[in-house]
Amino acid sequence: MKLALIVAMDQNRGIGKDNDLLWHLPADMKFFKETTTGHVVVMGRKNFESIPERFRPLPNRENVVLTRNEDYQAEGCLVFHSLEAAIAHYQETDKTVFIIGGGQIYQEALANFQMDEMYITEVAANIEADTFFPAFDENQYQIGIVQENEKDEKNPYSFVIKKYSK
Ligand SMILES: NC(=O)c1ccc[n+]([C@@H]2O[C@H](COP(=O)([O-])OP(=O)(O)OC[C@H]3O[C@@H](n4cnc5c(N)ncnc54)[C@H](OP(=O)(O)O)[C@@H]3O)[C@@H](O)[C@H]2O)c1
Repeated sequence: MKLALIVAMDQNRGIGKDNDLLWHLPADMKFFKETTTGHVVVMGRKNFESIPERFRPLPNRENVVLTRNEDYQAEGCLVFHSLEAAIAHYQETDKTVFIIGGGQIYQEALANFQMDEMYITEVAANIEADTFFPAFDENQYQIGIVQENEKDEKNPYSFVIKKYSK
């Protein structure tokens, strides 16, 4: 298994408010889709429910939802009751498993597991948020720029996508 993570954060590490994203950035959504397609995506129950029903489960990806509710069901998704159990399920496979948030899941993933790679979009914005991406030890990674986008009529903020690899 390769363990990966993907997130978009602003200058204060903000990633969400009121169980929604802070922005609509189609160019970053496109990168998210291209990067995660064909792989496993692991998300918290709140993140899953924040995706509009017609867009979930995320197509062409194996969707995993984490909840502590033993009765929870999500059509077309695998449900696990701990991050450890979800990761153990894929440990002996050759799959790439993407941690896709939200805040609680990023926090638990970074605190308890080594990421092989991370794609972090830095959005040039400063937006009020209630959910954040945790700080981590950047010295453990090599960092490269994968994409730089200027703002345009469809994308209200410029952003840089960085790849962190071990
Ligand atoms: N900018 C980005 O890249 C990005 C990406 C993803 C999400 N977001 C944003 O992040 C926000 C959502 O994040 P959040 O922190 O509120 O929620 P979350 O991490 O998406 O989900 C939290 C839920 O996950 C379940 N959970 C957490 N830890 C667990 C564990 N160890 N075992 C089993 N289940 C566990 C619990 O579900 P139960 O309550 O059902 O037990 C918990 O309530 C939204 O605003 C969303 O838009 C932003």
